[in-house]
Amino acid sequence: MPLDPDGRSLAARVAAGYLLPVTAPIVAIDGPAGAGKSTVARQLAGRLGFTMIDTGAIYRSVALAARRADVGWEDDEGLRKLLDSGLDLAFREDRVLLRGHDVTEAIRTPEISRGSSVVSARPVVREKLLGLQRELGRSAHAGAVLEGRDIGTVVFPEAEVKFFLTASDQARAQRRFSELSEKGLSVGLSTVLEDQRRRDKDDTERAISPLKAAADAILVDTTGLDLDEVVDRCFREASARLKHLNSGQP
Ligand code: DC
Repeated sequence: MPLDPDGRSLAARVAAGYLLPVTAPIVAIDGPAGAGKSTVARQLAGRLGFTMIDTGAIYRSVALAARRADVGWEDDEGLRKLLDSGLDLAFREDRVLLRGHDVTEAIRTPEISRGSSVVSARPVVREKLLGLQRELGRSAHAGAVLEGRDIGTVVFPEAEVKFFLTASDQARAQRRFSELSEKGLSVGLSTVLEDQRRRDKDDTERAISPLKAAADAILVDTTGLDLDEVVDRCFREASARLKHLNSGQP
């Protein structure tokens, strides 16, 4: 049994109120595409020593798996079968593996972006992915930073810390455009903006789990902000809240 420097066991310290028995804390980062969620989530997770879970990559992988299996993105029965047979998705550091194959780049094309928006509006898909996301989050060793659209509202409404990141749609499209250009994908800025507006509309207007900020989320507008400033702010807020929770004070 592990003892602290005063010779007390861990259980005795919990009983004495020195430590609270908590499950791994969850930090939720929601917001529209291109607000900087992935980069902020990755860096914040690194600084907190938490696992980062990109839930958009899960929806993207469903769209890709459906395309490869010749299942339509609106074919609920086909999607159900596909998910029941097991998605076989794994995250290895920064790579996404689908049935053992690296699909990190394949899930980021404009076509699959569109497909992920379509499949994410299907209740059967959201329902099947809910358990998977909860399992991934709660099984993270020290804690998890999950980024998506409905983490703080639906997947983990009890998350210890919630952020909602936004930015003007011009700023978001410019970021996505630069990302795609860096990867050698030639897509015009106006196409990116148009695609993004359509996805924003789909994401905010869908009947199930629409994109919206949780009432208790910390709102961060990243327009014109340097990513380091955003990460610093989120890190300060998250650390303060987690410290406060660990203190056991109301
Ligand atoms: O964050 P992203 O662009 O990689 O997300 C891809 C799509 O998946 C996007 O259209 C929104 C959807 N999504 C969702 O509905 N819920 C999530 N938790 C994450 C992503």
